[in-house]
Amino acid sequence: MIKVENIKKIYPGKVPTQALKGVSFEVRSGEFIAIMGRSGSGKSTLLHQLGLIDTPTGGKILIDNADVLKLSEAKKTLFRLQSLGYVFQEYALIAELTALENVYLPAFALGGDHDGYKKRAKELLEVVGLEDRFDHYPNELSGGEQQRVAVARALVNQPKVLFADEPTANLDSVSSEVVLKLFRKLNKELGQTIVMVTHEEDDKKYVDRVIWLKDGLIEKVEKNHIIKR
Ligand SMILES: Nc1ncnc2c1ncn2[C@@H]1O[C@H](COP(=O)(O)OP(=O)(O)O)[C@@H](O)[C@H]1O
Ligand SMILES: [Mg+2]
Repeated sequence: MIKVENIKKIYPGKVPTQALKGVSFEVRSGEFIAIMGRSGSGKSTLLHQLGLIDTPTGGKILIDNADVLKLSEAKKTLFRLQSLGYVFQEYALIAELTALENVYLPAFALGGDHDGYKKRAKELLEVVGLEDRFDHYPNELSGGEQQRVAVARALVNQPKVLFADEPTANLDSVSSEVVLKLFRKLNKELGQTIVMVTHEEDDKKYVDRVIWLKDGLIEKVEKNHIIKR
């Protein structure tokens, strides 16, 4: 599904930062992967390269055999919209739109049948347990609820991969567990491929494999032997 070969990222500046020093790994279809490591180890940088939000200084990324770094900017944008979903730490919902409108916005952006994507958005809000919050605005929702809206939004175009960068960092422990269990359910029941950055060692129990980063390199890969599929 995803094949990463020798990815490097140098942030330019007075003192350039070598955030990724040559990272290679594969993510199989249907896997739930965590990227872990200390603050500053390059986790977000790696996720941004995989998610085509940023362009690496070197290396190769294949997603479903597509050499995505070779795509033009316009094609990359379309690929992101059609094939990738994102959940960020800070929810990133649009304040002026209802929960339902936020969820179908990425589908609206692709065009297509309004009734169709509205129905799908409603179904996804049900999946995340917010069937009674369609018409609420973000400021009328708790942090945990806003993040679940963001998860539904990330899934509306049926992405090949769901990327999440510390999705529970702003949440209390109860809401964090709800979101992580939701990820686990999406992975198990829908076969959703997920790549999640987290610095919570405790989150290991939810995922199939952990890729540990240290100073821009893979330190080790840890397999979860407890989860049975
Ligand atoms: N936009 C940027 N410009 C310059 N340096 C950056 C930028 N983003 C991150 N860095 C640096 O790259 C390194 C890795 O950062 P990051 O990927 O955000 O780490 P993590 O997510 O693991 O905390 C850090 O040294 C950080 O200071
Ligand atoms: Mg980070």
